[in-house]
Amino acid sequence: MRAMFTAGNGPVQIPAETLANRVKELGAQIAQDYQGKTPHLICVLNGAFIFMADLVRAIPLPLTLDFISISSYGNAYRTSGEVELLKDLRLPIHGRDVIVVEDIVDTGLTLSYLLDYLEARKPASVRVAALLSKPSRRQVEVPIHYLGFEIEDAYVYGYGLDRAQFDRNLPFITSLHPEEE
Ligand code: PRP
Repeated sequence: MRAMFTAGNGPVQIPAETLANRVKELGAQIAQDYQGKTPHLICVLNGAFIFMADLVRAIPLPLTLDFISISSYGNAYRTSGEVELLKDLRLPIHGRDVIVVEDIVDTGLTLSYLLDYLEARKPASVRVAALLSKPSRRQVEVPIHYLGFEIEDAYVYGYGLDRAQFDRNLPFITSLHPEEE
């Protein structure tokens, strides 16, 4: 049987308690910035589902939320920037103060596409909350207003992020040693 909740030997290790504390800080910051407003949070499936669930519970404001699913064509490391919409939003965003919730920004291609897609629907504002960012991998500049952790270029998984679709249920973020990839 596959061993459960086993950490990898890679350079990025973020314990559950550290994640919880940082997500609470991000939620408090968002609550302060959006006081008197009703933000609309959009979770980018699948990886952001746990971050989203914790983040919304750390924002003591009236808010609405929705989900979208997009995927880079072919493999995620391709530079074409072509992105496929797998599941569209259910709610309109016209005039709304949108916060995009991402698990990780790598090349930035997914987020760049998504921001264009959202802006075309004329929201009042759009900001981005990302749990992780790998700045060394960036191919296109994208704004991140609320960032959990800047990390080095390692294969990270857990807390919603997958390792070949498994391990999204790990309560912490861990990573593979380069030789394990
Ligand atoms: C990940 C992540 C972002 C994207 C970031 O999604 O959730 O959406 O890749 O990469 P980029 O900055 O290079 O575009 P993934 O395609 O792995 O799907 P998943 O969230 O369903 O695991």
